[in-house]
Amino acid sequence: MCGIVAYVGDKVAYPILIKGLQRLEYRGYDSAGVALINSDIHTYKCLGKVKDLETHAKGKHLSGTIGMGHTRWATHGEPNDTNAHPHTSMNGKFTLVHNGIIENYAHLKKELELRGYVFQSETDTEVLVNLIENIYQEQKVDAEIAVRLALSKVIGAYGLVISCTEEKEQLIAARKGSPLVIGVGDHEYYLASDASPIVEYTDQVIYMNDEDVAIITKDDLILKNIQNDAQKPKIQKVELTIDEIDKGEYEHFMLKEIHEQPSSIGDTFRGRISIDKTKIFLGGIIDVMPKLTQAKRIIIVACGTSWHAAMVGEYLFEEYARIPVEVEYASEFRYRNPVINADDVLIAISQSGETADTLAAIKMAKKQGATIVGICNVVGSSIPRETHAGVYTHAGPEIGVASTKAFTSQVTVLTMMAFMLGRKRGSLYDELYKQLIQELTLVPEKIKHILRSEQYIKDIAETYKDASNSLYLGRGVLFPVALEGALKLKEISYIHAEGYPAAEMKHGPIALIDENMPVFVLATKDKSYEKIVSNIQEVKARNGKVIAVVTEGDQTIKKLADHVIEVPDCHESVAPLLTVIPLQIVSYYIAVMRGCNVDQPRNLAKSVTVE
Ligand code: AGP
Ligand code: GLU
Repeated sequence: MCGIVAYVGDKVAYPILIKGLQRLEYRGYDSAGVALINSDIHTYKCLGKVKDLETHAKGKHLSGTIGMGHTRWATHGEPNDTNAHPHTSMNGKFTLVHNGIIENYAHLKKELELRGYVFQSETDTEVLVNLIENIYQEQKVDAEIAVRLALSKVIGAYGLVISCTEEKEQLIAARKGSPLVIGVGDHEYYLASDASPIVEYTDQVIYMNDEDVAIITKDDLILKNIQNDAQKPKIQKVELTIDEIDKGEYEHFMLKEIHEQPSSIGDTFRGRISIDKTKIFLGGIIDVMPKLTQAKRIIIVACGTSWHAAMVGEYLFEEYARIPVEVEYASEFRYRNPVINADDVLIAISQSGETADTLAAIKMAKKQGATIVGICNVVGSSIPRETHAGVYTHAGPEIGVASTKAFTSQVTVLTMMAFMLGRKRGSLYDELYKQLIQELTLVPEKIKHILRSEQYIKDIAETYKDASNSLYLGRGVLFPVALEGALKLKEISYIHAEGYPAAEMKHGPIALIDENMPVFVLATKDKSYEKIVSNIQEVKARNGKVIAVVTEGDQTIKKLADHVIEVPDCHESVAPLLTVIPLQIVSYYIAVMRGCNVDQPRNLAKSVTVE
């Protein structure tokens, strides 16, 4: 999610907050705000960038030596002035900024409304600030106790900075799932989502741990956990220098986003899989559930990587929900005068939510009476505003032009939808449904395991960085992953690459095979494993170079291929989420070794808002 900056000391807070938010600019966001604390608390917030916030706050009351700032990446409630942070409780006692997602906000909101609370925004965050105030006033406890009691009721992820009007000299910070760093100064403290806004003031930092709560005044810092156990602050020297701060420890956003996938997939699940891992709940499509469960056909429209995710969705929907699916390039669909029926459901997949062809396609389908469902990453973008319902991927901002974490989050949403619809339609029996959910929840840890092979995959990239062409092969639900791997390579390294269904080789592409042709083969254990082994033998018989992505421990393909990249064993329905990771990494390193501009490849834009 997005960015937090806060300060308590003797300096004027406002310029520190603004500069700090600018330092977090790289994280991508849709709105920004600050709260400045002195005798009163003054909050300024608006849709847009930090410069828009500066314009908004110009000439206003900007004094105060305590303050907090926020850049928002919306998850609940579209980007606008009201939903921007900081949020203040109904009776004005508490003001806070929040990074993350409060999963059980709807339940908590209902309880607070019964207690007379009225809400201004659509955010989950406003529920939290009112919950804290309600406990503070009803139980007559100190602010930090109210915060800890409130957080013990919260399910979800948060990085928080909180101020109470009746304890104005202090800030309270809390962390669970969204990072917070404390900068230790001389009679002053800084807080931020990462070290970048802090490093110019101090190199002494404390990285807060999950469930830590910090009570900070300019001269004192108390660290405890939610259960009130004292925690020993561990002060470390931050190694970051200003010029490397934008991407943290990573050379490119793409590599950072590849590594974010265990947590971004976790954010995609968040609040949507029951704690006992036996049920899936997608609140955003509740209203169209009858349309989905009774659909005679599902049409999925998308472009590029999102179209590859759609292809994965086709296999999974047909396998588990037994609903016929058609996947369409939005740019073709919108112009070919397709037959669209009122009982069709059209799913639009788009990371940016702004792709012109996809937007045009859904407008056309909507006019012809189809039910439109979105799977997007940017809350409040154009496509979600056109749909009847949808599921946000919650992957966080994706800065690199080559889509990585957005793809795996899209596939995660489609997988959850396929399982849930299968269960509701009775085509997926309960036992397997629960097993599949369990399999899905194990994916983040398995991706972490794959990421530990990064150096090994980088060495493979070294071998093939000078290739002029490349082939990617897969079968079944891994065929779309082969297409995605080829797109990754071609769009950032400019090597011509094609993805094919492996069985299609004998109908032409096998003529291309020689010792100069690297062939990436997705060959994890599934129902077509024996067939893919034969395809590898066909390529080897013609001196092709085979790099196979295999299930850990596979000895058969190890004897045949030139290189094998192992991924943990998994159910074949979640194999796309694992097998794409090595392809992302190898493409990244080949592009870097070729001196390409990985984050901004030539001729490409992050969002194609033109036809
Ligand atoms: C993928 O790496 C590319 N950046 C591109 O194909 C992208 O997926 C396509 O333009 C669709 O974008 P969207 O998901 O924002 O609609
Ligand atoms: N869930 C909160 C919101 O939608 C915080 C989002 C963020 O991390 O920026 O406002």
